[in-house]
Amino acid sequence: MLELADIRKTFRLGPVEVEVLKGIDLRVEAGDLVSIMGPSGSGKSTLMNILGLLGRPTSGSYRIDGRDVSTMNDRELSAFRNEHIGFVFQSFNLLGHLTALENVSLPLVYRGAGRRASRSRAEDILGKVGMSDRLDHRPDQLSGGQKQRVAIARALVGTPSAVLADEPTGALDSDTAEEVMQLLIRLNREEGIAVVIITHDAAISMQCRRRALIRDGELLEDVRASAESGTA
Ligand SMILES: Nc1ncnc2c1ncn2[C@@H]1O[C@H](COP(=O)(O)OP(=O)(O)OP(=O)(O)O)[C@@H](O)[C@H]1O
Ligand SMILES: [Mg+2]
Repeated sequence: MLELADIRKTFRLGPVEVEVLKGIDLRVEAGDLVSIMGPSGSGKSTLMNILGLLGRPTSGSYRIDGRDVSTMNDRELSAFRNEHIGFVFQSFNLLGHLTALENVSLPLVYRGAGRRASRSRAEDILGKVGMSDRLDHRPDQLSGGQKQRVAIARALVGTPSAVLADEPTGALDSDTAEEVMQLLIRLNREEGIAVVIITHDAAISMQCRRRALIRDGELLEDVRASAESGTA
């Protein structure tokens, strides 16, 4: 479970301080499927980077599965991130010189798992995202939707507590975006991994059980759909 309490983030540009997050409280529970919407510049990516331990808040507390992460040093944070968080980016962020299988194995190799075990687990998870027939392709030999499937497999391979996706469908055409969204929904349901998705697309947000809205650094709404109306 991810628990943010009164998270603030201030950037300093020369003499000017800008408060980009103004006291965010958010709990993401196991199995949650949450969308975060909000205007450009409202602080979505800043929040996601803090959730994903890629950035530190200026103040506030953050606990992951009960552990206070604000006291960890950078090395502890990377190890903790590797175990608990999967990240999916709009621009995929795959390593261009590695194959799909190698890209997906990497998080396991970093945490010290054996090469054979890592590859075998990576192969399984690539199967789950429908990429078994593209294991040895490099990113430049894959379509956008296929690259995002590989990136999702990489996010999931270490069985994280949560997968965080910052506009995962932003670079895809609408049919491919829908396929990627269905994949995230299915993995959330089948694997029970919490998924948090930043999106500008209301249709994508509507498929999530929880919908949060950020405006000007504040979390305005955090709606839980009661009866299931959508696919999730
Ligand atoms: N490293 C930084 N230094 C200074 N200001 C920053 C930095 N990173 C972000 N900001 C500012 O913080 C605000 C929020 O940025 P953020 O990237 O979180 O917005 P966003 O909601 O993700 O927008 P978009 O929908 O365009 O991706 C913006 O005004 C931005 O200029
Ligand atoms: Mg952003």
